[in-house]
Amino acid sequence: MAKIELIATTTFGLEAVVKREVQNLGYTDITVADGKVTFTADEKAIARANLWLRSADRLLLKIGEFNAFTFDELFERTKALPWGNWITRDAKFDVNGKSVKSQLFSISDCQAIVKKAVVEKLKQKYMTDWFEETGPESTIQVALLHNTATLTIDTSGVGLHKRGYRQAAGEAPLKETLAAALVQLSYWRKERILLDPFCGSGTIPIEAAMIGRNIAPGLNRKFASEKWPMIEKNLWKEARIEAFNAIDQDTPIKIFASDKDEKVIEVAKENAAQAGVDDCIKFSVKPFSQVKIKEKYGVVITNPPYGERLGSQEEIAELYQTMGKTFKEEPTWSVYVITPYEKFENVYRKKANRKRKLYNGNIKVDFYQYYGERPPKEQSF
Ligand SMILES: C[S@@+](CC[C@H](N)C(=O)[O-])C[C@H]1O[C@@H](n2cnc3c(N)ncnc32)[C@H](O)[C@@H]1O
Repeated sequence: MAKIELIATTTFGLEAVVKREVQNLGYTDITVADGKVTFTADEKAIARANLWLRSADRLLLKIGEFNAFTFDELFERTKALPWGNWITRDAKFDVNGKSVKSQLFSISDCQAIVKKAVVEKLKQKYMTDWFEETGPESTIQVALLHNTATLTIDTSGVGLHKRGYRQAAGEAPLKETLAAALVQLSYWRKERILLDPFCGSGTIPIEAAMIGRNIAPGLNRKFASEKWPMIEKNLWKEARIEAFNAIDQDTPIKIFASDKDEKVIEVAKENAAQAGVDDCIKFSVKPFSQVKIKEKYGVVITNPPYGERLGSQEEIAELYQTMGKTFKEEPTWSVYVITPYEKFENVYRKKANRKRKLYNGNIKVDFYQYYGERPPKEQSF
């Protein structure tokens, strides 16, 4: 099978997590840059990576990369690329663009030039002047960075955070890709207890359960490139069978999830059922003040309320203070909190062992990591 280059795009700060996911799929020729993890693979990787990547935003197929300082260069070098290998005669295709620190900064002009160049190339390949655009979707992206243009086609279609299980969400839900990254950045392993006391629509517990059960996050959805005739249907079938067979049905998983809002817990239960992990999570309606910790060596991963819709600044600070007091009593527990509240450590009254800067959509957040005592070896956590 011919070699291709794929780019898994990521939110700022999650590149190392996505790199590890790509490595876990067995790909080794990997380069990491801001917001993207590039790797060499074969066509089957389009199916496998779309099905399995938990924390990437999208999977792009790289068609070419070159320097472009003028529109003429952009046009000619785009036209020289092998678009006909990947875009069918009837393909419906749009061009997205972005430009950072480059001479060609007008994104709409770059998009129009790339579209024209691709059409010119396809006219030669298919010997026609007329394209109906009624067939499979192929979204081209032109990304300029320091005058280097990277031309790709999006293989995912709808973003990879759309797993297909979240029918509804509460206030300020986390993106599924970010929730999966938080779980992977923590010391939680499927043998340990996990608690999210502000679970909202259940994104963190559900993503953790899917990781625990080794369920490929894309198993219940479709991808744009599934309709591309140049990728053999068998490759998708094999990748889905591989993912299905990899599911661990047996390991008991103990995840506790609570929220004070009864309605949102109903939503979370429904989402967990859709994701096929409702047997892994015990949901309850409970304000944080009533959360009781009975066992040892558990892990908290949570996204507590923040912002006016979810409480006043004073209420939020008081709640974070209560969290600090509660978890201080539990030195064997590890606690991971994601919040945009900059004074979190002050009100929680403890400096984090590690603080990682991340983004939840466009909001800058920090992921505060408090490491609990390590479990004794014989408990093999
Ligand atoms: C930022 S949202 C969590 C979103 C969640 N991660 C998701 O993806 O849907 C915070 C949640 O905390 C809940 N909450 C607010 N105050 C609470 C309290 N005192 N005790 C328990 N839950 C509370 C809200 O109902 C809300 O669902």
